[in-house]
Amino acid sequence: MAVERTFSMIKPEGVRRGLVGAILARLEQKGYRIVALKMLRLTPEMAAEHYAEHRDKPFYQDLINHITSGPVVAMVLEGPGVIAGLRRLMGATNPQEAAPGTIRGDFALETSHNVIHGADSPASAEREIAIYFTPAELG
Ligand code: RTP
Ligand code: MG
Repeated sequence: MAVERTFSMIKPEGVRRGLVGAILARLEQKGYRIVALKMLRLTPEMAAEHYAEHRDKPFYQDLINHITSGPVVAMVLEGPGVIAGLRRLMGATNPQEAAPGTIRGDFALETSHNVIHGADSPASAEREIAIYFTPAELG
């Protein structure tokens, strides 16, 4: 079976605050391999596709406005148990509840600005990878 992979993104506030290096370092130090990496600014169409599951939520429009507000760093990570492992490294969605030592616990205060995204299941990971990367970019 292929090594597990997932999709992650450093959100606009993470890029704006100069946290790209610190966040990537944590992911690499854990032992995950960065398979693909790019900086880009999401179009409204890409954002709608990315957050399709939240279409009917009250915070949806704020989410789209925010995620398109500046460049993000999108990546594919690979490693044993990486989908659940990344979620543990990220910490809780609300950074005020995220444990110290997690990325959100150490670098964020607001749910709307929680600095990192990580796919929440194998199906989400594959769906999201396909939004951002072509097969050629995945080596
Ligand atoms: P993500 O998708 O960004 O990795 O975060 P998550 O799985 O921990 O949280 P999810 O429920 O998927 O929500 C996606 C993003 O929407 C924002 N959010 N705002 N105002 C609110 O109640 C609220 N809930 C979620 C957060 O930025 C969250 O990361
Ligand atoms: Mg999510």
